[in-house]
Amino acid sequence: MARLLVTGGAGFIGSNFVHHVIENTDHVVTVLDKLTYAGNKDSLAGLPEDRFELVVGDVANAALVDELFADHDAVVHYAAESHNDNSLDDPRPFLDTNVIGTYTLLEAARRHDMRLHHISTDEVYGDLALDDPERFTETTPYNPSSPYSSTKAASDLLVRAWVRSFGVRATISNCSNNYGPFQHVEKFIPRQITNVIRGIRPKLYGTGENVRDWIHADDHSSAVLTVLEKGEIGETYLIGADGEENNRDVVEMILELMGEPRDAYDLVTDRPGHDLRYAIDSSRLRTELGWRPQFPVFREGLEATIRWYRENESWWAPSKDGVEAFYASKGQ
Ligand code: NAD
Ligand code: DAU
Repeated sequence: MARLLVTGGAGFIGSNFVHHVIENTDHVVTVLDKLTYAGNKDSLAGLPEDRFELVVGDVANAALVDELFADHDAVVHYAAESHNDNSLDDPRPFLDTNVIGTYTLLEAARRHDMRLHHISTDEVYGDLALDDPERFTETTPYNPSSPYSSTKAASDLLVRAWVRSFGVRATISNCSNNYGPFQHVEKFIPRQITNVIRGIRPKLYGTGENVRDWIHADDHSSAVLTVLEKGEIGETYLIGADGEENNRDVVEMILELMGEPRDAYDLVTDRPGHDLRYAIDSSRLRTELGWRPQFPVFREGLEATIRWYRENESWWAPSKDGVEAFYASKGQ
């Protein structure tokens, strides 16, 4: 049994990880989360009180981080500003949380000799051409496009430097696009599902040819636990489940699964600097650490996700109108 500190554990992927850990291990979990617009206590409802605690606070608060590090064995760092469209609108919070927040945790890890796993994204590698036979690997050069991905790239480089210069016991994982329960309605898949539920036509940026490599959030969780337990200190592991789909196909699949005509969507203003394609080669994680995804069929995972949003309207409804007003102001 270990005492895990999970930053950003009230967000989408962090909360899925907390549920995964409670269900599949005997670890005890503390979540440190600022509860920004993206954090939701309800995503952590029903967890056993003797194995789970929520501390509301900022990862950039060094005194609070020091206090929490003293009582834990390992930290899994999910906390971030995570949405590209928001980073194009107002980059500053991305620097504060993603860069200064990660720096604060690294300095504390150094003081406490703490094992730290840093959660990152495939977006640090930039994008690929649609017909490029190569996929991202652990040695692909960094080439981020947006304020969000550049701050995540900065945070990864800080982790690497703190490992090399100060001997911090850290690992990094870079994962592709996640889907599943508890994802904020600002993101692509939940936005379109909740649009259909509300009778709003789904909105596709540009021509919809952009490709994302989808992985179920629970598979991301099992991969992170694998790296935490078996990963080599100082190393980076790419996480992906061979789930490449273009956005148009995803919207059409959502419409079909929800009983609507496949062409009942609108093309809207494209995202500035929109990355064309992401694709992950996760061979290293699979061959060296023995990880395998449990939700390899995207269509089935999507069906379950649609069911979750239909059954949990009270979870997402409070955010929906504000998100749609934000997008409408940008012609999206
Ligand atoms: P999210 O926006 O749903 O959740 C982020 C969480 O962090 C929220 O609960 C928020 O309250 C919290 N937070 C924000 N600033 C904080 C601060 N200063 N102090 C403490 N808590 C703070 O994000 P997500 O989609 O769950 O992403 C989680 C992590 O996974 C991020 O690091 C992201 O870069 C990475 N990631 C996401 C994806 C994806 O597809 N969503 C893929 C790969 C990697
Ligand atoms: O690749 C991992 C990244 O995936 C994570 O690091 C980010 O935190 C996460 O937000 C996600 O980034 P994307 O920008 O790929 O995700 P988003 O859900 O915003 O958009 C997915 C694709 O769908 C992208 O090509 C833009 C497009 N899109 C998005 C929205 C919100 C639309 O076509 N219409 C929309 O309404």
